[in-house]
Amino acid sequence: MCGIVGYIGKNSVKDILLDGLSELEYRGYDSAGIAVLQDSNFSIYKAVGKLENLKNKTKEFHPKGFSIGIGHTRWATHGKPTELNAHPHIGENSYVVHNGIIENYQELKQRLSTEGVHFLSQTDTEVIVHLFESHLKRLKSPLEAFRAALDELHGAYAILLITKSAPDTIFFAKNGSPMLIGLGKDEKHFASSDTPLIGLCKDVIYLYDGENGYLTSDAIEVFSKSYEKITPVHKALPTSKLSAQKEGYRFFMEKEIYEQSQVISDTLMGRLSKDTILFEELDEKLFEGINEIKLCACGTSYHSALAASYLFERFAKIRCSVEIASEFRYKEPMMSKDTLFVVISQSGETADTLETLKMAQAAGLKTLVICNVDNSSMVRAADASILTRAGIEKGVASTKAFATQMVVFWMLSLYLAKLRSSLTSAQLAEQILLLREIPATVVVSDDLHEKIRRLSKRYLHGHGFFFIGRDVFYPLALEGALKLKEISYLHAEGYPSGEMKHGPIALADPELFTIALMPVNLLYDKTKSNVEELSARDSTICAISAVAFDKADDFIQIKEHKHYMHEFFEMMVVLQLFSLEISVRLGNDVDMPRNLAKSVTVE
Ligand code: F6R
Repeated sequence: MCGIVGYIGKNSVKDILLDGLSELEYRGYDSAGIAVLQDSNFSIYKAVGKLENLKNKTKEFHPKGFSIGIGHTRWATHGKPTELNAHPHIGENSYVVHNGIIENYQELKQRLSTEGVHFLSQTDTEVIVHLFESHLKRLKSPLEAFRAALDELHGAYAILLITKSAPDTIFFAKNGSPMLIGLGKDEKHFASSDTPLIGLCKDVIYLYDGENGYLTSDAIEVFSKSYEKITPVHKALPTSKLSAQKEGYRFFMEKEIYEQSQVISDTLMGRLSKDTILFEELDEKLFEGINEIKLCACGTSYHSALAASYLFERFAKIRCSVEIASEFRYKEPMMSKDTLFVVISQSGETADTLETLKMAQAAGLKTLVICNVDNSSMVRAADASILTRAGIEKGVASTKAFATQMVVFWMLSLYLAKLRSSLTSAQLAEQILLLREIPATVVVSDDLHEKIRRLSKRYLHGHGFFFIGRDVFYPLALEGALKLKEISYLHAEGYPSGEMKHGPIALADPELFTIALMPVNLLYDKTKSNVEELSARDSTICAISAVAFDKADDFIQIKEHKHYMHEFFEMMVVLQLFSLEISVRLGNDVDMPRNLAKSVTVE
């Protein structure tokens, strides 16, 4: 949700800021902007829409020599995506970029307005720069003024501020939104994630909530929330950016679908023995005294959690409930200490999920996070973490992260089954053999992709899609519908097959498309009856199954598998490709669909 970058050094500040922003564009692309301070002069450029527009605007801008700069790519929260609302925001002599939400901005704005401040934008961010300047008039020291401003801000933020009153300094603060410092040769960087820094820096400093300070060309000063000096820990940064490039695929999403076999192998690696799941990162004590698991997440991660709840109850025989994080936050939930609270997040930064983690911790529950980003806020906060090893996911519509979450969940349900003796050694060994076969089930064959590409042309209209399934195929149906909505902008819903007759079947007609998930190894006959009911009402049916179904208008055949989880994984690929090809035919931006962002760090 918004990306920010900063730079101090002698190299080409414009290119470094713009390259950094292009790595972060997946976090928001409503507008972008940069501000560069050189020889006490500001240069400022902003453009609405994709970064390309800003790149065009800055074609003639070639700053040389020492400079400092900040940049921002925006996902609009307060105020429309206009140039005035684009960051950096200006005061009299300072600029600021911000990711997060300043919750008390309205009262601050009111107060500053009575002091004579004129606001240009509708954003919450603009108060930061005016607050700073108002304190600067009184305190004279930019550092003191920055701290005084921070003391008044409520909410989540990662902030960079530059000012003519300290022309070689970038002030920074982090609270609830991600930010790190990159240490290059004779230069320093800021970024919202480590990707923009790969290749530029060997070491980084991950900032923690409440930390703040300033950088100059020769100093890195980091302070705690109460302004005590901290000695920051330097960590090594990966050196290869290759895996984050498209490698010949049309879209990152497509590349990420094809990568699933590899990242699932990576996720399994070192974690399987003959009849045991090995999670080196887990201490068995985490599960002592635990009688229930509560899974909490948003979006796609919520769907993987919902599917996991079937596996936990079935294999580990443990009570399992699933919560949507944004709902859980305010429902005044009952939390008991014999519940293990598990959050699931690709990014590890989703504001709602992170907050539920903090709530559970405050209530004294043990916590575990399943996450794709090491050192993310959730990984740092939880008692324990399991990393999904999907690699950087750039397509806004999540694919490989979901796949690896499902693999971790399957493994975790077996890990618990062993601890709780709910499966025999023979059953565990059998399940582990199945796990080993997942990478092969998700390999995309040319035939399958071509079949889906051809079929997609029949599904570009209609008044809606129902994706239906039972058991774990119900959350998969939800996920299939979400994928289609996100990148095709067509209306789609996921539904349990058996629920259609309780209302939604009223919508059935030839323009209602039913995408029926019909696994042979799980409740096939039950699902078949439900699909027949829809077919009898003339809904257009696309069946996904290993066996042909004579009532279907279209049929996508998957391979014959011996277990329903293998059918799950292959159908997952089918649904991802189905959405992708529909979106391509509709001419949409597959990797950066409208109104979305990759990392949702606001509530
Ligand atoms: C959909 C998608 C979102 C995310 C959701 C939670 O394709 O990616 O629904 O799953 O915003 O994000 P994480 O998993 O980062 O917490």
